[in-house]
Amino acid sequence: MRTIEQVSAMQAWSHEARRRDGARIALVPTMGALHAGHLSLIDVARRHADVVVASVFVNPTQFDRTDDFARYPRDVDADGALLAGAGVDVLFAPDADDIYPDGAQTTVTVEQLAEPLCGAHRPGHFRGVATVVLKLFSAVQPHVAVFGEKDYQQLALIRRMVRDLHLEIDVIGAPIVREADGVAMSSRNRHLDADERAAATCLARALAAAEERVAAGERDGAAIVAAATSELAREPRARVEYVAAVHPDTLQPLARLDDAPDVADRALLALAVWIGATRLIDNRVLTVPAASRERRTA
Ligand code: PAJ
Repeated sequence: MRTIEQVSAMQAWSHEARRRDGARIALVPTMGALHAGHLSLIDVARRHADVVVASVFVNPTQFDRTDDFARYPRDVDADGALLAGAGVDVLFAPDADDIYPDGAQTTVTVEQLAEPLCGAHRPGHFRGVATVVLKLFSAVQPHVAVFGEKDYQQLALIRRMVRDLHLEIDVIGAPIVREADGVAMSSRNRHLDADERAAATCLARALAAAEERVAAGERDGAAIVAAATSELAREPRARVEYVAAVHPDTLQPLARLDDAPDVADRALLALAVWIGATRLIDNRVLTVPAASRERRTA
C-alpha cells in the first residue's frame, strides 16, 4: 500500500492510474480510528473498482464542538495496518493545511437535506462534510465512492450533491455493521467505559422495539417514535437528542408510514442519543410488510 499525503500527488497518481491502466478507482473516505464497519466499505469498493483509495482525514470543519474534535480518536499506525491488510492500494492522508489552503472561502451547502435530524443539532456539520467530501473527490478523482448507511443523512446528502453538481461518481451505500450485541460500530465507541458500552445497546433495542410495532400493524409515525423513545427511557444513562420517523428520501417527518405515496412501504427511523459525554447515532429503514401493502392498495 502506498501512502500519499499531498493533494497534488494524489491527483497525479489518479491521472496516471486512469491514463496508463484505464483503472476504475474507488474512494472510501474515513476519519480513521478504523473498525470492521470501515473495512466492510473497502470490501464493497473492491467489488466495484480496480484500485481502492481510502482516505483518513479528521476533518476539522465538520465538528460543531472543539472538544469533540480534540478528543476524536486518532490511531494512524493501526489504521495503516488495517488498510494494508484489507488490500487498499493507496492511503490518502492529507494535512488540514493542504485540504484547506490559506484563505479558503468556498464551501458546499446542501440545503433541505441538511436541516433535520443531526443537522438540527450540529450547526455547520453537514456543510463541513459536503465541503470536505467534494475536496476528497477532487483530490482522488474516483469513479466510485462508498459510504455507510450508519450515517444515513450524510449518504443522502452526498448523493444529492453528486447529482446537483453533475459529478461523474457512482455513490454506493453499504449496510450498517454491528457488534454481536447489536451496537453499531463507531469510532466513538472507544470513548465508552464498560458501563456506558453496556448502556449503548439501548439504541439498537429502541430500533427493534419500533420495528416490532410496525410488524404488529402500527403505521402512526408518533406511535412508532414513542415505542423507540420509551425503550430508550429504560436506560438511565441515555439522554435522547432526537428520535424521528422520516421519509427515507426527503428526511421530512412522516405522520404515517403509509403516508408517502411514492415510498409507502418504507420509513427511516433515526435516533441520536448521548451516553455520558459520547453522542451515538443509529437508524433503521422500517419496511411495511408486503401483505399489509396489498390490503391497502386493494
Ligand atoms: P467516519 O465516521 O470515519 O466514517 C467513514 C465511513 O464509514 C462513513 O461512510 C460511515 O458511514 C462508515 N461507517 C462508520 N461506521 C459504520 C458501520 N458501523 N457500518 C457501516 N459503515 C460505517 O463519516 C465520516 O467518517 C466523515 O463524515 C467523512 C465522510 C469521512 C467526511 O469527513
